[in-house]
Amino acid sequence: MLIFLAVILVALDLLLVWFMLRGAPYVPTRKITVDKIVDLAGNIDGKKMIDIGSGDGRLVIAFAQKGAQATGIEILPPLVNLSRKKIQEAGLEDRAKVIWQDMWKTDFSPYDVLTVFGIVHVMPTLAKKIRREMKPGSKVISLSFKFPHWPIKEDRDGIYLYEV
Ligand SMILES: C[S@@+](CC[C@H](N)C(=O)[O-])C[C@H]1O[C@@H](n2cnc3c(N)ncnc32)[C@H](O)[C@@H]1O
Repeated sequence: MLIFLAVILVALDLLLVWFMLRGAPYVPTRKITVDKIVDLAGNIDGKKMIDIGSGDGRLVIAFAQKGAQATGIEILPPLVNLSRKKIQEAGLEDRAKVIWQDMWKTDFSPYDVLTVFGIVHVMPTLAKKIRREMKPGSKVISLSFKFPHWPIKEDRDGIYLYEV
C-alpha cells in the first residue's frame, strides 16, 4: 500500500514538473472572465480562433457561440474528452473542436485569434513561436501573463490584448 502511494506521489510530482516546463496546470477561467475575453476579441464572426491549453473547452465553446470557428488544443486526455462532450451537448460540432495535442507541436498559422492562459516562464518562448507563425494583424489575448516587450493594445483587468 505504501509503495503504491509513493508511486502515485512521484507520478504527481513528475506531472507537475512537466507542466512547469511545458505549459500551465489546469486552472479554469471564470465565466465572467470568459465573457470579457470574447468581448475583447471584437468581431469574431467567421474568424478562426485557437485556445492553446483549452482545459474543459469553455473558451472554445464561448467563441463558437459567437460565430467563430473555434479550435482547442489540450494535452490532458480527460479534459479533451470532457470538452468534446460539452461541444456535442451544445450542438456546436460544426464550429468547435478540441484536438489532443501539445501546443508546442501545433501550427498557429491558420488562426486569426489566439487565446492563452499560460504561465510566466513560457511567455518568451511562446512569443517567438507566435511571431514566427501567425499572420500580421492577428489578435493574441493572454490572461494574467504578459508577453515580454510586446506593446499591449488593451489591458482589461489583467486580460491583455496584442496584435501580431
Ligand atoms: C490555466 S489552464 C487554462 C484552461 C482553459 N484555457 C481556460 O481558460 O479555462 C491551462 C491548460 O493548458 C493545458 N496545457 C498545459 N501544457 C500544455 C501543452 N504543452 N499543450 C497543450 N495543453 C497544455 C493544461 O492541461 C490546462 O488545461
